[in-house]
Amino acid sequence: MTVSARDMVIAARKGGYGIGAFNINNLEWTQSVLKGAQEANAPIIVQTSMGAAKYMGGYKLCVDMVNDLIDSMGITVPIALHLDHGNYEAAKACIEAGYSSIMFDGSALPFEENLAKTRELAQICKDKGISLEAEVGAIGGEEDGIVGMGECADPDECKAIADCGVDMLACGIGNIHGVYPEGWPGLRFDVLDAIIAKVGDDLPLVLHGGSGIPDAMVQEAVRKGVSKINVNTELQLVFAAKTREYIEAGKDKEGKGFDPRKLLAPGFAACVDMVKYKIDVFGSTNKA
Ligand code: G3H
Ligand code: ZN
Repeated sequence: MTVSARDMVIAARKGGYGIGAFNINNLEWTQSVLKGAQEANAPIIVQTSMGAAKYMGGYKLCVDMVNDLIDSMGITVPIALHLDHGNYEAAKACIEAGYSSIMFDGSALPFEENLAKTRELAQICKDKGISLEAEVGAIGGEEDGIVGMGECADPDECKAIADCGVDMLACGIGNIHGVYPEGWPGLRFDVLDAIIAKVGDDLPLVLHGGSGIPDAMVQEAVRKGVSKINVNTELQLVFAAKTREYIEAGKDKEGKGFDPRKLLAPGFAACVDMVKYKIDVFGSTNKA
Protein backbone atom coordinates (compact mmCIF):
# COMPACT_ATOMS: atom_id res chain seq x y z
CA MET A 1 0.00 0.00 0.00
CA THR A 2 1.09 3.55 -0.67
CA VAL A 3 1.89 5.77 2.31
CA SER A 4 1.69 9.48 3.06
CA ALA A 5 4.83 11.36 2.02
CA ARG A 6 4.85 13.27 5.31
CA ASP A 7 7.20 11.02 7.27
CA MET A 8 9.59 10.56 4.38
CA VAL A 9 10.03 14.28 3.71
CA ILE A 10 10.34 15.11 7.42
CA ALA A 11 13.06 12.44 7.78
CA ALA A 12 14.76 13.81 4.65
CA ARG A 13 14.65 17.39 5.96
CA LYS A 14 16.18 16.29 9.27
CA GLY A 15 18.67 13.93 7.65
CA GLY A 16 19.85 16.38 4.97
CA TYR A 17 18.88 14.32 1.94
CA GLY A 18 16.21 14.56 -0.76
CA ILE A 19 13.34 12.30 -1.79
CA GLY A 20 12.94 11.70 -5.52
CA ALA A 21 9.46 12.39 -6.91
CA PHE A 22 9.13 10.78 -10.32
CA ASN A 23 6.28 11.40 -12.76
CA ILE A 24 4.69 8.35 -14.36
CA ASN A 25 3.06 8.15 -17.77
CA ASN A 26 2.12 4.52 -18.30
CA LEU A 27 2.47 0.99 -16.94
CA GLU A 28 6.13 0.56 -17.92
CA TRP A 29 7.01 3.93 -16.41
CA THR A 30 5.39 2.98 -13.13
CA GLN A 31 7.17 -0.38 -13.03
CA SER A 32 10.53 1.21 -13.83
CA VAL A 33 10.20 3.84 -11.10
CA LEU A 34 9.16 1.25 -8.51
CA LYS A 35 11.99 -1.10 -9.56
CA GLY A 36 14.55 1.71 -9.32
CA ALA A 37 13.37 2.64 -5.83
CA GLN A 38 13.45 -0.96 -4.63
CA GLU A 39 16.95 -1.56 -6.04
CA ALA A 40 18.19 1.65 -4.44
CA ASN A 41 16.42 0.78 -1.18
CA ALA A 42 14.98 4.30 -1.14
CA PRO A 43 11.61 5.81 -0.26
CA ILE A 44 10.14 7.63 -3.26
CA ILE A 45 7.13 9.59 -4.41
CA VAL A 46 5.38 8.38 -7.56
CA GLN A 47 3.41 11.24 -9.03
CA THR A 48 0.88 11.85 -11.76
CA SER A 49 -0.01 15.15 -13.35
CA MET A 50 -3.73 15.62 -14.02
CA GLY A 51 -3.08 15.05 -17.73
CA ALA A 52 -1.02 11.88 -17.26
CA ALA A 53 -3.65 10.42 -14.93
CA LYS A 54 -6.34 11.14 -17.52
CA TYR A 55 -4.17 9.56 -20.23
CA MET A 56 -3.70 6.40 -18.15
CA GLY A 57 -7.42 6.00 -17.42
CA GLY A 58 -8.19 8.19 -14.42
CA TYR A 59 -7.24 8.64 -10.77
CA LYS A 60 -8.82 5.41 -9.57
CA LEU A 61 -6.86 3.43 -12.15
CA CYS A 62 -3.62 5.08 -10.99
CA VAL A 63 -4.37 4.24 -7.35
CA ASP A 64 -5.16 0.62 -8.24
CA MET A 65 -2.19 0.27 -10.62
CA VAL A 66 0.37 1.60 -8.15
CA ASN A 67 -1.02 -0.39 -5.21
CA ASP A 68 -1.29 -3.58 -7.27
CA LEU A 69 2.26 -3.21 -8.59
CA ILE A 70 3.62 -2.61 -5.08
CA ASP A 71 2.02 -5.91 -4.21
CA SER A 72 2.87 -7.97 -7.31
CA MET A 73 6.44 -6.62 -7.61
CA GLY A 74 7.12 -7.24 -3.91
CA ILE A 75 8.02 -3.60 -3.30
CA THR A 76 8.99 -3.08 0.33
CA VAL A 77 10.34 0.51 0.27
CA PRO A 78 7.89 3.30 1.21
CA ILE A 79 5.99 4.61 -1.83
CA ALA A 80 3.69 7.64 -1.84
CA LEU A 81 1.25 8.24 -4.70
CA HIS A 82 1.10 11.99 -5.22
CA LEU A 83 -1.01 14.28 -7.39
CA ASP A 84 1.38 16.69 -9.15
CA HIS A 85 0.23 20.30 -9.85
CA GLY A 86 -3.40 19.56 -9.08
CA ASN A 87 -6.11 22.18 -9.21
CA TYR A 88 -8.73 22.36 -6.44
CA GLU A 89 -11.15 19.94 -8.13
CA ALA A 90 -8.39 17.43 -8.92
CA ALA A 91 -7.13 17.61 -5.34
CA LYS A 92 -10.59 16.75 -4.04
CA ALA A 93 -10.99 13.95 -6.61
CA CYS A 94 -7.63 12.38 -5.75
CA ILE A 95 -8.36 12.52 -2.02
CA GLU A 96 -11.55 10.58 -2.80
CA ALA A 97 -9.81 8.17 -5.19
CA GLY A 98 -7.20 7.12 -2.62
CA TYR A 99 -4.01 9.09 -3.43
CA SER A 100 -1.75 9.17 -0.37
CA SER A 101 -0.35 12.62 -1.14
CA ILE A 102 -1.65 15.73 -2.91
CA MET A 103 -0.15 18.82 -4.45
CA PHE A 104 -2.59 21.67 -4.62
CA ASP A 105 -1.15 24.18 -7.08
CA GLY A 106 -3.03 27.41 -6.53
CA SER A 107 -0.19 29.51 -7.88
CA ALA A 108 -2.24 30.82 -10.82
CA LEU A 109 -5.04 32.00 -8.49
CA PRO A 110 -5.17 35.36 -6.71
CA PHE A 111 -2.99 34.89 -3.61
CA GLU A 112 -5.86 35.17 -1.11
CA GLU A 113 -7.75 32.42 -2.95
CA ASN A 114 -4.64 30.19 -3.05
CA LEU A 115 -4.30 30.77 0.70
CA ALA A 116 -7.95 29.96 1.51
CA LYS A 117 -8.05 26.81 -0.64
CA THR A 118 -4.68 25.60 0.67
CA ARG A 119 -5.91 26.11 4.23
CA GLU A 120 -9.10 24.14 3.57
CA LEU A 121 -7.26 21.27 1.84
CA ALA A 122 -4.61 21.16 4.59
CA GLN A 123 -7.33 20.43 7.13
CA ILE A 124 -8.98 17.76 4.96
CA CYS A 125 -5.64 16.06 4.25
CA LYS A 126 -4.63 16.20 7.90
CA ASP A 127 -7.88 14.52 8.95
CA LYS A 128 -7.31 11.75 6.41
CA GLY A 129 -3.58 11.22 6.98
CA ILE A 130 -2.71 12.41 3.46
CA SER A 131 0.31 14.68 2.89
CA LEU A 132 -0.19 18.06 1.19
CA GLU A 133 2.20 20.11 -0.94
CA ALA A 134 1.32 23.69 -1.85
CA GLU A 135 2.87 26.13 -4.30
CA VAL A 136 3.72 29.78 -4.04
CA GLY A 137 4.48 31.74 -7.19
CA ALA A 138 4.60 30.00 -10.53
CA ILE A 139 7.42 27.64 -11.53
CA GLY A 140 8.51 28.77 -14.98
CA GLY A 141 8.72 26.67 -18.08
CA GLU A 142 7.91 26.70 -21.74
CA GLU A 143 4.81 28.64 -22.63
CA ASP A 144 3.86 29.26 -26.25
CA GLY A 145 7.36 28.30 -27.32
CA ILE A 146 9.01 30.85 -25.02
CA VAL A 147 11.07 29.58 -22.12
CA GLY A 148 11.40 31.95 -19.16
CA MET A 149 14.59 32.13 -17.11
CA GLY A 150 12.91 31.03 -13.86
CA GLU A 151 10.72 32.85 -11.36
CA CYS A 152 11.25 33.41 -7.66
CA ALA A 153 8.65 33.15 -4.89
CA ASP A 154 7.99 35.92 -2.38
CA PRO A 155 9.27 34.77 1.06
CA ASP A 156 6.36 36.47 2.88
CA GLU A 157 3.85 34.60 0.72
CA CYS A 158 5.76 31.38 1.41
CA LYS A 159 5.41 32.00 5.13
CA ALA A 160 1.65 32.64 4.83
CA ILE A 161 1.09 29.41 2.86
CA ALA A 162 3.38 27.45 5.18
CA ASP A 163 1.26 28.59 8.11
CA CYS A 164 -1.77 26.85 6.55
CA GLY A 165 -0.26 23.62 7.87
CA VAL A 166 1.13 22.14 4.64
CA ASP A 167 3.63 19.28 4.75
CA MET A 168 5.77 20.50 1.85
CA LEU A 169 6.15 23.78 0.03
CA ALA A 170 7.06 24.32 -3.63
CA CYS A 171 8.53 27.75 -4.27
CA GLY A 172 10.29 29.11 -7.31
CA ILE A 173 14.02 29.73 -6.85
CA GLY A 174 14.81 30.20 -10.52
CA ASN A 175 13.96 26.58 -11.40
CA ILE A 176 12.09 25.79 -14.62
CA HIS A 177 10.08 22.85 -15.94
CA GLY A 178 11.46 21.03 -18.98
CA VAL A 179 14.82 21.52 -20.66
CA TYR A 180 16.81 24.45 -19.25
CA PRO A 181 17.50 27.18 -21.79
CA GLU A 182 20.97 28.18 -22.92
CA GLY A 183 22.33 30.79 -20.53
CA TRP A 184 20.11 29.83 -17.60
CA PRO A 185 21.74 31.58 -14.62
CA GLY A 186 21.21 28.74 -12.10
CA LEU A 187 19.26 28.35 -8.86
CA ARG A 188 18.88 31.44 -6.68
CA PHE A 189 20.32 30.29 -3.36
CA ASP A 190 19.88 33.80 -1.96
CA VAL A 191 16.12 33.45 -2.50
CA LEU A 192 16.16 29.94 -0.98
CA ASP A 193 17.96 31.34 2.09
CA ALA A 194 15.41 34.16 2.38
CA ILE A 195 12.51 31.69 2.17
CA ILE A 196 14.02 29.40 4.82
CA ALA A 197 14.62 32.42 7.06
CA LYS A 198 10.85 33.05 6.93
CA VAL A 199 9.39 29.53 7.02
CA GLY A 200 11.92 28.05 9.45
CA ASP A 201 14.28 25.09 9.38
CA ASP A 202 11.71 22.32 9.70
CA LEU A 203 9.50 22.70 6.63
CA PRO A 204 10.46 20.40 3.72
CA LEU A 205 10.79 22.44 0.52
CA VAL A 206 10.18 21.09 -2.98
CA LEU A 207 12.31 21.67 -6.06
CA HIS A 208 10.29 21.38 -9.26
CA GLY A 209 11.92 21.14 -12.66
CA GLY A 210 14.57 18.77 -11.28
CA SER A 211 15.66 17.64 -14.76
CA GLY A 212 18.86 19.14 -16.10
CA ILE A 213 20.01 21.08 -13.04
CA PRO A 214 23.70 20.32 -12.42
CA ASP A 215 24.02 17.64 -9.69
CA ALA A 216 26.16 19.81 -7.42
CA MET A 217 23.55 22.59 -7.57
CA VAL A 218 20.75 20.18 -6.60
CA GLN A 219 22.91 18.86 -3.76
CA GLU A 220 23.51 22.39 -2.49
CA ALA A 221 19.73 23.01 -2.53
CA VAL A 222 19.21 19.75 -0.59
CA ARG A 223 21.88 20.75 1.93
CA LYS A 224 20.01 24.00 2.52
CA GLY A 225 16.51 22.52 2.92
CA VAL A 226 15.05 21.06 -0.26
CA SER A 227 13.63 17.64 0.65
CA LYS A 228 11.66 16.62 -2.46
CA ILE A 229 12.94 16.90 -6.02
CA ASN A 230 10.59 16.42 -8.98
CA VAL A 231 11.91 14.68 -12.08
CA ASN A 232 9.91 14.12 -15.24
CA THR A 233 11.62 15.39 -18.41
CA GLU A 234 14.89 13.51 -17.90
CA LEU A 235 13.05 10.19 -17.73
CA GLN A 236 11.16 11.07 -20.90
CA LEU A 237 14.40 12.00 -22.68
CA VAL A 238 16.25 8.78 -21.82
CA PHE A 239 13.21 6.67 -22.65
CA ALA A 240 12.88 8.34 -26.05
CA ALA A 241 16.63 8.13 -26.78
CA LYS A 242 16.85 4.41 -26.02
CA THR A 243 13.69 3.62 -28.00
CA ARG A 244 15.06 5.61 -30.94
CA GLU A 245 18.37 3.72 -30.76
CA TYR A 246 16.53 0.39 -30.82
CA ILE A 247 14.48 1.31 -33.87
CA GLU A 248 17.30 3.00 -35.73
CA ALA A 249 19.40 -0.13 -35.22
CA GLY A 250 16.59 -2.03 -36.96
CA LYS A 251 15.97 -4.26 -33.93
CA ASP A 252 12.21 -4.00 -34.28
CA LYS A 253 12.61 -5.84 -37.59
CA GLU A 254 14.66 -8.70 -36.15
CA GLY A 255 12.44 -11.65 -35.21
CA LYS A 256 9.60 -10.40 -33.05
CA GLY A 257 11.48 -7.26 -32.06
CA PHE A 258 8.32 -5.29 -32.79
CA ASP A 259 6.61 -6.84 -29.75
CA PRO A 260 6.03 -3.91 -27.34
CA ARG A 261 7.53 -5.97 -24.53
CA LYS A 262 10.80 -5.93 -26.50
CA LEU A 263 10.42 -2.52 -28.11
CA LEU A 264 9.91 -0.76 -24.78
CA ALA A 265 12.53 -2.75 -22.85
CA PRO A 266 15.57 -0.48 -23.52
CA GLY A 267 13.62 2.63 -22.48
CA PHE A 268 12.37 0.81 -19.42
CA ALA A 269 15.91 -0.18 -18.37
CA ALA A 270 17.15 3.38 -18.95
CA CYS A 271 14.40 4.74 -16.68
CA VAL A 272 15.36 2.29 -13.92
CA ASP A 273 18.99 3.44 -14.18
CA MET A 274 18.01 7.12 -14.21
CA VAL A 275 15.80 6.71 -11.13
CA LYS A 276 18.66 5.02 -9.26
CA TYR A 277 21.13 7.68 -10.40
CA LYS A 278 18.87 10.53 -9.24
CA ILE A 279 18.17 8.84 -5.90
CA ASP A 280 21.93 8.60 -5.40
CA VAL A 281 22.47 12.29 -6.28
CA PHE A 282 19.70 13.25 -3.83
CA GLY A 283 21.37 11.17 -1.10
CA SER A 284 18.43 8.87 -0.39
CA THR A 285 19.96 5.52 -1.37
CA ASN A 286 19.42 3.08 1.53
CA LYS A 287 17.15 5.53 3.38
CA ALA A 288 14.12 3.21 3.19
O1 G3H B 1 6.08 18.73 -11.45
C1 G3H B 1 6.89 18.11 -12.14
C2 G3H B 1 8.25 18.51 -12.23
O2 G3H B 1 8.50 19.70 -11.65
C3 G3H B 1 9.13 17.94 -13.25
O3 G3H B 1 9.93 18.88 -13.92
O4 G3H B 1 10.00 17.82 -16.15
O5 G3H B 1 11.59 19.60 -15.53
O6 G3H B 1 11.79 17.35 -14.50
P1 G3H B 1 10.89 18.39 -15.09
ZN1 ZN C 1 6.44 20.81 -11.32
